[in-house]
Amino acid sequence: MNIAMARAHREAFLSAMGSGAAVLRTGPELVRSRDTHFSFRPDSDFWYLTAYPEPDAVLVLIPGRSEGQMVLFVRPRDPEMETWHGRRAGVEGAREIYGADEAFPIAELDTRLPQLLRGVDELYYKTGNDADFDRKLLGHVRDMNFKTRDGVTGPAAFVDPGLLLHEMRLFKSDDELDYMRKAAEITAEAHAAAMRTLAPGVHEYEIESVVNGTFRSHGGSGPGYTSICAGGDNANILHYTVNNEPVPDGACLLLDAGCEYSGYTADVTRCFPASGTFSSAQRELYQVVLDAQLAAVEHVKPGVTFESVHETSTRKLTEGLISLGLVRGSVDEVLEDRSFQRWTIHKTSHWLGLDVHDVGSYFVDGTGGKTSRKLEPGMVLTVEPGIYIPADAELAAEGMRGTGIRIEDDVLVTESGHENLTAAIPKSISEVEAAC
Ligand code: GLY
Ligand code: MN
Ligand code: MN
Repeated sequence: MNIAMARAHREAFLSAMGSGAAVLRTGPELVRSRDTHFSFRPDSDFWYLTAYPEPDAVLVLIPGRSEGQMVLFVRPRDPEMETWHGRRAGVEGAREIYGADEAFPIAELDTRLPQLLRGVDELYYKTGNDADFDRKLLGHVRDMNFKTRDGVTGPAAFVDPGLLLHEMRLFKSDDELDYMRKAAEITAEAHAAAMRTLAPGVHEYEIESVVNGTFRSHGGSGPGYTSICAGGDNANILHYTVNNEPVPDGACLLLDAGCEYSGYTADVTRCFPASGTFSSAQRELYQVVLDAQLAAVEHVKPGVTFESVHETSTRKLTEGLISLGLVRGSVDEVLEDRSFQRWTIHKTSHWLGLDVHDVGSYFVDGTGGKTSRKLEPGMVLTVEPGIYIPADAELAAEGMRGTGIRIEDDVLVTESGHENLTAAIPKSISEVEAAC
């Protein structure tokens, strides 16, 4: 994100709101233990609208307000705190650098918010993310509505800002795609480095270190989600993040890791053999997943539904599972009885952007809907089929057990079809073996 992009996002959001007011918050630093904190990462909605990188700030947007539409509450400058913990833009920086029309110390929020919300009908605010802040804001609204005899009116309705904002975030601008391409490019470096590093006995944490180190050394902020470095049977734990075991000879490593760059994350999975060569059983499984992944990526184009990407992948996976003897019946029978799910577990895609499981509805009739929405240019989704054979899966041939294969790319929907943003990362069996 940069400041010009955030301004454009704000203007589009203000114009979509038309009236009312929006309150968006980015949280304080969170305690990790005693007096140390987790490294801070802004709330994605707040970041999208402000490019303001510091913790503990509140954005108030009021379309058409004569004193200015953007009010920012921030941590004030504080020489002692800045000496210990880092520079702050302060109230002046909030105005001069980040373009706020008005800015105030965060400590003044409680006194100023009721004034700002006077006469506002609809309040765009997402309840449920922070109980303390919810209570405070609801308290202000209640108090304002007690004063109607004095001519004060407060908001009458709460609206989820995501209804507008998350639709905007779903469609990536060229500037946003530049960041996503950069995240993808660094992710490609990291996966290639991991493939070079893996050998029998190398620990999962050594791969994590190479991957996360590559993210940072290329200017990314780090992983966009905890890197999954899962050797052998650990790959059957979908979000395995302990990353502390050696990868045995003969096993594969499942690496699901994506770099975050300026807030935008990649999300890529590759599986590769510790020995540098897939066993014949691993090769068979891998090819089934790869065929499904390639077919599903190929299917991505404007006008097809999100769900049909999953259906394309699932049909191919099912054909493969039948040919491997892992399920029985015709393709249609297996799709009907859903026995394929024993080995495939999860769905194929999700939106991708500032969040790894990004925002935007999946249905034409909103978040509670049933009709899968059609893909449109500017959307970015993952395509990530998998087959998972736990070590104790007696129904599977012995050579397949203790293997989890997922192959995941990040795919942009374009006017003419799609662009695979992570196509540079080795994927075919021969490419992966060569990269190892
Ligand atoms: N890395 C999490 C996912 O692929 O959804
Ligand atoms: Mn992933
Ligand atoms: Mn994913």
